[in-house]
Amino acid sequence: MFSLYLTGNKETDDKSVLEYLSLLLEEGNDSLYAVSTLSNISALLKWYIPSINWLGFYLRRGRKLVLGPFQGEPACTEIPFSRGVCGKCATEGKTIIVQDVELFPGHIACSSLSKSEIVVPLIKEGHLYGVLDVDSPEKGRFGEGERVLLERAASLISDSNLPEHLKVFAERE
Ligand code: SME
Repeated sequence: MFSLYLTGNKETDDKSVLEYLSLLLEEGNDSLYAVSTLSNISALLKWYIPSINWLGFYLRRGRKLVLGPFQGEPACTEIPFSRGVCGKCATEGKTIIVQDVELFPGHIACSSLSKSEIVVPLIKEGHLYGVLDVDSPEKGRFGEGERVLLERAASLISDSNLPEHLKVFAERE
């Protein structure tokens, strides 16, 4: 049964959530379990981060990103590296924060609810294997607090053996 005690103090709560995320990464050891683990991580982060309407993973296949485990409304299945906030994040290999999606040229609107967005790259040993995308119905929702939390989450995932198990998806075209 899922149970995580939150104090209301962001530093303490971020630490608890990241510890829980590390425990999730210990479960299973193949490609199907990698999907289960990313599903659980998307549920954990969506549960924890306030005022968001979508959180999920896009996983790399060649020069495209394909929708992976997520929480929220149904979303675009495929995003080329040349398009959207996710494509920019994948191309540049760095976190992108968009305070107002309407002002971002090429933003892909999967949901009319989304007003701001943060996308964090997932990189292991210099190789990008996906992105973690979070949308909010509020403009200007994301700042350093979310960047630090999500980049730590991305590091924990990258430091685990999970990216190895995603190669089976990435190598098909
Ligand atoms: N807005 C993203 C597309 C993915 S959805 O937000 C889930 C983008 O511009 O890349």
